[in-house]
Amino acid sequence: MKIAVLGTGGGARAHAAKLVDLGHEVYVGTRDPEATLARTEPDMMGNAPYGQWLAEHPGITLKTFGDAAAAADTLVVNGIDGHNAVAALTTIADRLAGKTLVDYAVPFVYEHETEHPWPTPWGVMPKLEPCDTDSLGEQIQRALPATKVVKSFVTQEQTTVVDPKAVGGGDHTMFVAGEDADAKRQVTDLLKAYGWTDVLDLGPLVCARGMEMYAHLHSAIGFGLGQRFGGHFGIKVVR
Ligand SMILES: NC(=O)c1ccc[n+]([C@@H]2O[C@H](COP(=O)([O-])OP(=O)(O)OC[C@H]3O[C@@H](n4cnc5c(N)ncnc54)[C@H](OP(=O)(O)O)[C@@H]3O)[C@@H](O)[C@H]2O)c1
Repeated sequence: MKIAVLGTGGGARAHAAKLVDLGHEVYVGTRDPEATLARTEPDMMGNAPYGQWLAEHPGITLKTFGDAAAAADTLVVNGIDGHNAVAALTTIADRLAGKTLVDYAVPFVYEHETEHPWPTPWGVMPKLEPCDTDSLGEQIQRALPATKVVKSFVTQEQTTVVDPKAVGGGDHTMFVAGEDADAKRQVTDLLKAYGWTDVLDLGPLVCARGMEMYAHLHSAIGFGLGQRFGGHFGIKVVR
């Protein structure tokens, strides 16, 4: 299948590499392919410059966000930074129409003033915006009414999403939420291909609120485990 991954960050790289391993034709989207390939410094998370990473991962085609989305048959992964995702996706709405968009972004705002900061090993914890009464997943769906948005992947580091067996032998839970049953089935099938055995359908896309708000607990658990970032753990819904 031709699948698009919008984003060049660490999470998007995990999906792109895994999808190639699974035999898919992968199109990665970025703002400006030339500028992305010209980078020589690691990104803010310490990931190697994209051109260097791409050279080590043949089989991936780098395009603009719009051209990558247009190249996908039916499935697109959104790995655009959460604070900028709605604006970036709105400009390519026509290229996403009719497709399933699985979104794992967190609507983090990194620079913010707060009376009660949460100091972490890597700086003040970003705030979630929107939060509580709306979610990024719902904002994206409202901006792209012709696209089937599914929120998933967001509750774990993407390295463990694409390789669930690397944690606890794979005995942990992944969630999906969205309005379209076929789109959720498509994302669930992808998760099964990744190795997931426990995929819990939370129901409508409004449940993206809970999945995104989990981001703070995810960070807290990581700190509790002594993991600065890139938490290597999963969550299991015991029932
Ligand atoms: N990494 C994980 O394991 C993980 C886990 C759970 C949730 N998340 C969330 O998922 C999202 C993506 O994470 P990530 O680590 O894969 O990548 P990231 O480093 O958070 O985001 C990188 C992507 O965002 C794009 N971007 C940044 N600023 C932009 C702007 N102003 N306009 C348009 N695009 C912009 C970049 O475009 P260029 O390619 O042009 O630079 C790049 O493709 C984030 O919200 C993150 O919090 C990540």
